[in-house]
Amino acid sequence: MSTSSQSSYNLTQITLHWLIAALVVFQIVFAEAIEEAAEAAEEGYRISAGEALLADAHIWVGFAVLGLTMLRVAIRLVRGAPAGAAGEPAFALLAMKATHLAFYVLLFAAPVTGIIAYYVFPEAGELHEIAKPAFIALIAIHVLATLWHHLIRRDDTLRRMIRPAQ
Ligand code: HEM
Ligand code: HEM
Repeated sequence: MSTSSQSSYNLTQITLHWLIAALVVFQIVFAEAIEEAAEAAEEGYRISAGEALLADAHIWVGFAVLGLTMLRVAIRLVRGAPAGAAGEPAFALLAMKATHLAFYVLLFAAPVTGIIAYYVFPEAGELHEIAKPAFIALIAIHVLATLWHHLIRRDDTLRRMIRPAQ
């Protein structure tokens, strides 16, 4: 995806980044209820009202991630993103681009496979479940890379995802 010369993300991009991050963490932490609901539907038993509420939340939060990601990608395509930090080695820039691209692929693939599993083929649940380890691995790499920038290289990578462009 393209980069442009602005020095930071804008307020909408920053809000979408942290909102989507929080919703994805919710999806991973509270996924047990939807699993239980899927199993109950297959085996014909009832789940508690609390579990049913959390299972519904999984569906709606998942749709919200899909919609907000579409908006985010549209803004990203029009406005671009800041280039990598100054003096960044080529391999680190490539790793950053690959991680960000993998996040975007997953932010689409997770809800789409979930929708297929829920409305069309329950068997697609197997594929949908890969979202969990895939997100956990990417988040770990992403957070470590951010800490490396902030604490070791002491550049403005983290600040530009906090303080909007003027
Ligand atoms: C960002 C979006 C989403 C994420 C990160 C996500 C994540 C997860 C996770 C972690 C599980 C449990 C897997 C496990 O513990 O092994 C799960 C199960 C499930 N999710 Fe999602 N989900 C998302 C969106 C959706 C959407 C939009 C739907 C449906 C409209 C959906 C439907 C389901 C169903 C039906 C299951 C149970 C699958 C089964 O047990 O066979 N998910 N999801
Ligand atoms: C589920 C959680 C997360 C997801 C899905 C996610 C996704 C992304 C994506 C796709 C980008 C690229 C933005 C673009 O240029 O289009 C990005 C940038 C960024 N993220 Fe995250 N992120 C998550 C959590 C976090 C956390 C916890 C931190 C802080 C430790 C963080 C810090 C940053 C920073 C500083 C950037 C800007 C990088 C740069 O400009 O080079 N993210 N994130």
